[in-house]
Amino acid sequence: MSQVPADGKPWAGRFSQDTDRVMENFSASEHFDRRLYRHDIEGSRAHAKMLAAAGILSADEYEAIIDGLGTIREQIEAGEFNWSQRLEDVHMNIESRLTDLIGDAGKKLHTGRSRNDQVATDIRLFVREAIDAIVARLGVLQSVLVERAETEADTIMPGFTHMQSAQPVTLGHHLMAWVEMLDRDAGRFNDCRTRLNVCPLGAAALAGTSYPIDREMTAEALGFDTVSGNSLDSVSDRDFLMEFNAAAAILAVHLSRIAEELVLWSSERFGFVDLGDAFCTGSSIMPQKKNPDAAELVRGKSARVIGNLMALLVLMKGQPLAYNRDNQEDKEPLFDTLDTVVACLDVYIAMFPGAQFNRPRMLAAASEGFATATDLADYLVRRNMPFRDAHEIVGKVVAAAIDKGLRLDQLTLEELRVFCNAIDEDVFEVLTLEGSVSARDHIGGTAPAQVRKAIASARLRLKNG
Ligand code: ARG
Repeated sequence: MSQVPADGKPWAGRFSQDTDRVMENFSASEHFDRRLYRHDIEGSRAHAKMLAAAGILSADEYEAIIDGLGTIREQIEAGEFNWSQRLEDVHMNIESRLTDLIGDAGKKLHTGRSRNDQVATDIRLFVREAIDAIVARLGVLQSVLVERAETEADTIMPGFTHMQSAQPVTLGHHLMAWVEMLDRDAGRFNDCRTRLNVCPLGAAALAGTSYPIDREMTAEALGFDTVSGNSLDSVSDRDFLMEFNAAAAILAVHLSRIAEELVLWSSERFGFVDLGDAFCTGSSIMPQKKNPDAAELVRGKSARVIGNLMALLVLMKGQPLAYNRDNQEDKEPLFDTLDTVVACLDVYIAMFPGAQFNRPRMLAAASEGFATATDLADYLVRRNMPFRDAHEIVGKVVAAAIDKGLRLDQLTLEELRVFCNAIDEDVFEVLTLEGSVSARDHIGGTAPAQVRKAIASARLRLKNG
């Protein structure tokens, strides 16, 4: 059995035997949690400031700690920091290096603190920043879509239910539906941010500390809105990670649904959009192929984000209060979720401005499938017919048109009047696609005028953040 000396590890005092190498390897997290170094240093600076104000550190010790932490940050960023698996995690790596650099003052930094409240603080700071990065990108993507919606406000395409042509809509309206979905996503992330912005520092290992600490001061220095109310909960709460990942999973599902539409729309059957050579790939065997891989990957990557949410939920479900080492497993799903949604948002932000929509193909598709049948029924209702009767009659008209191989607007007035003599020449206004979309002129409707209003209010929302 190969062993490594426990000596030198900050917790080694009560140990008389060495750590098994397999165990050291199993327990170490520094290779992934080093990503928290900035947040860890920021938390330590605030903690040191508070300890100095409380008279627990001298002014000299405080200065030395701040200088030392600054040096460590520089070394990490220059790639000159020697990370050690022996020191388990980011927290002990930094603290131990601080002591190497400044001596005994470094050993005092951990007064009134535990890695349990320290890591809880670090990941809150990390997630707060992650949320800001995601919300900023959501704003950019929404703006890109709003721009496209404006140029496509009058573009007619088929709207689908059950993937069957249902009623004509405008492409601008469809793009603005995506904007609405993303708007709720941003709202969910911001809600999560409000709830997580609470400082756990001071909870120490689980019960609080006997030092005269000033929790409000630390919280304020770190930009938290308030301090947590229960020390046991402070070190064990990972709700904010589950909530963050839930918001991310819903976002990933939205991006995946958009991806699914792009895959369909770019297929030669639809031909509604060309996503651009820069975002497609070819086939190594079929020379004619241009595949929508960016969209397919976004669709595929939603699986990891959903999986990460499941991992976090299951990670928490069996844990008694307070801190358990299980929690170290929260970081990789968190990082992966952040990286995945950012990558998906970035590819959409880059791809959408260059996508070419094929208006003639969309118009032709909208003309098929009797998409104005509801408009004909509504026309009959305006002539005092009960809607159910109108529905029945129009059903018969559609059957006759199918028989003749004609569209509704290709039937003659005489042919239409066979089914109902209340039909007049003006029926052809409602049977056109333009007439159909412009008639849906109310808040949330597909009429180009309404799409333009929705665009204006989205722009205002995006501007005011
Ligand atoms: N690496 C640990 C984590 O991620 C830090 C806290 C360790 N605390 C402890 N009591 N071993 O959760």
